[in-house]
Amino acid sequence: MRLLYPCDPFNKKDPDETYAEEFLAAQTAGMACSLYSAEDFESGDFKPRPLFASEEEVLYRGWMLNPNGYGQLLDAIECNGARAVTSVAQYCLCHYLPEWYSLCKDFTPETIFVEKGADYAAAVANLHWPAFFVKDYVKSLTTNRGSVANSVGEVAEVVSLIEKYRGQVEGGVCIRKFEHLAPDTEERYFVFRGKPYARNGVVPEIVQSIAPRIDSPFFSVDVVLSADGTPRLIELGDGQVSDRKQWPVERFLEIFRG
Ligand SMILES: Nc1ncnc2c1ncn2[C@@H]1O[C@H](COP(=O)(O)OP(=O)(O)O)[C@@H](O)[C@H]1O
Ligand SMILES: [Mg+2]
Repeated sequence: MRLLYPCDPFNKKDPDETYAEEFLAAQTAGMACSLYSAEDFESGDFKPRPLFASEEEVLYRGWMLNPNGYGQLLDAIECNGARAVTSVAQYCLCHYLPEWYSLCKDFTPETIFVEKGADYAAAVANLHWPAFFVKDYVKSLTTNRGSVANSVGEVAEVVSLIEKYRGQVEGGVCIRKFEHLAPDTEERYFVFRGKPYARNGVVPEIVQSIAPRIDSPFFSVDVVLSADGTPRLIELGDGQVSDRKQWPVERFLEIFRG
């Protein structure tokens, strides 16, 4: 399997600063790695270096892409004779909250999905939730304001701020039931080809239960403890576009070696 990283826009022989540590560690560990220019790709030119071997499996490691952008990358990989490890459907399954929600409902805060600009008051009228946690299909509001809405008016406020700071609401709006969570307890796990991995080697039951439900070759699972100590699933993510968070780079790369 070959890893594909974005290069530095000004120096195409080097990895982009964001991925440099991981790219260099992967090369040092003897893993096959290529670079490509995300900027050239946007203007229709895809030139991975080194080129892919025929039929080789390629795993992207880079910025989040929308489903259309991921589909274009996948086509470009295939035009270069290789195969992407993750299909577009598999990418969307973990990248978009509404796609995985029904498969993990028992582990994650209750959620409703509405279009941007919908009648939020009508949508939450019968829910009797203590407060709301508002995000689009991909991300919460990461400014100091945060994503918690204490009223329907604040739901609209969070949605407009997401649009203001990120330029758009991706997909639609997720309104989640607010839950009391224990601070600083979030931990990221990864599942690669069906096998779950923990940073410290101990995979909790919740992650073992989720792993076989999700038809994706590589995804992340974020677990937070609730105030009473119960593990809760906060989100899944496509592993190709997930940060390593607290994972030391060498430990992360071991995932791909089984
Ligand atoms: N339903 C919720 N109730 C309370 N806090 C939440 C809820 N959902 C998420 N959070 C908190 O907000 C943080 C960010 O939420 P998350 O869904 O992971 O957004 P992002 O996609 O921006 O990372 C989580 O780590 C968790 O601490
Ligand atoms: Mg998160």
